Amino acid sequence: MNNQVRTPAQLHREQVQRDALKIGIDEAYISVLVDTFYDRVRRHPVLGPIFADAIGSEWDPHLAKMKQFWSSVARNTGQYSGKPVPAHQKLTRVQQYHFALWLDLFRQTLADTAPTAQAADYFMERAERIARSLQMAMFDRPGQLADC
Ligand code: HEM
Repeated sequence: MNNQVRTPAQLHREQVQRDALKIGIDEAYISVLVDTFYDRVRRHPVLGPIFADAIGSEWDPHLAKMKQFWSSVARNTGQYSGKPVPAHQKLTRVQQYHFALWLDLFRQTLADTAPTAQAADYFMERAERIARSLQMAMFDRPGQLADC
């Protein structure tokens, strides 16, 4: 039995996780999403070489980090504590149109793997928001999604 008093932050976190679970989002799906997406990224003719340059053979730590990232974003687990902006600012080969390619591939991966349509929308909304802020930091403009 767990009689500990939960803080507002813990209660919020539990609520986020319950809501995510209702539309099929759990750690097992996050793992499938990340593995499938980066498998496609590695084989992508334009994105693949950019990642190969930056990551080399260190894919296992990158995949583990990306699972923590999406667990934090989608389930509010607090597993990820990195800094995406400087990590992307050092990628001098990345151009703004690459973000559109990244988002298309992510959208297609969700269409092929997501447990529900709501789960696909949930991840896509967050990916688009983060992509916009990365583009603001890297190029001083939010890219093709500036209409909202
Ligand atoms: C053009 C699109 C993108 C490219 C080419 C790209 C490429 C990369 C590469 C090569 C790394 C590894 C950097 C390193 O370890 O040295 C990385 C890290 C990362 N990316 Fe992206 N990325 C893109 C878009 C995105 C988007 C849209 C998101 C989020 C929705 C994202 C989230 C992350 C995160 C969380 C990391 C880990 C940062 C850290 O080290 O803590 N990326 N990305």
